[in-house]
Amino acid sequence: MVSKVIISIDGTSSTGKSTIARRIAKKLNFTYIDSGSMYRAVTYFCLKNGIIFNNKIEKKKLSENLEKILIDFKLNPINSQNEISLNNNFIDSKLRSLEIAEHVSKIAKQKNVRNFILKIQHHYSKKNNIVMDGRDIGTVVFPNAKYKFFLTASSKTRAKRRYHEMKKNGLNISFSDVLENIITRDKDDSTRTNSPLKIPDDALTINTEKLSLDELEKIILDHIKNN
Ligand code: CDP
Repeated sequence: MVSKVIISIDGTSSTGKSTIARRIAKKLNFTYIDSGSMYRAVTYFCLKNGIIFNNKIEKKKLSENLEKILIDFKLNPINSQNEISLNNNFIDSKLRSLEIAEHVSKIAKQKNVRNFILKIQHHYSKKNNIVMDGRDIGTVVFPNAKYKFFLTASSKTRAKRRYHEMKKNGLNISFSDVLENIITRDKDDSTRTNSPLKIPDDALTINTEKLSLDELEKIILDHIKNN
């Protein structure tokens, strides 16, 4: 079997990873997989099923329930996008709340959750050429990915982007809460023991602070063409 091509796009929160990853996948006719949405989906499940209770994770309940979680990516007929489904329901629009953002890093640092998601990530790479974005894609999930990118921008710029996106989606939030969440998550994601957020040695790091999406897309596609 010819091995599949993998493009990893890692970085801190709200650097535009998912938007650019989706665009690159479309351009190259690859499958786009949003790994953050998997951690968000598990968090959503935990909040709905009392596994996160009083801001704490019931760890025993979490491990008993992991096998009841069915995560898949398929075409959502409503918007024709490849989207996450949780137990056969499209839930992407429910995953972007501040409540999920405030709990997701606690869920994402659990070893059993990471192993559970790792299996799903590897499963997709067997079937398709993929673009996957996240925190540990180029370091832990696919250390042999053919092309690796790492996106950065200042926390203020990232919070502004996320705030406008959330407002556009009708969420009632304040800029300071969004900024605080981004700073807290960056810290939690980079300092955890399991698969911490870090720049892969062989990644191209891109500061997206002043780049338009078209400019960012060109940098990524040029790099792929020339390497
Ligand atoms: O959209 P944003 O960049 O804010 O976050 P996301 O990509 O949806 O990821 C949400 C959270 O999931 C992150 O803050 C991490 O805690 C976790 N995550 C992870 O641990 N590993 C990944 N590969 C992707 C996300």
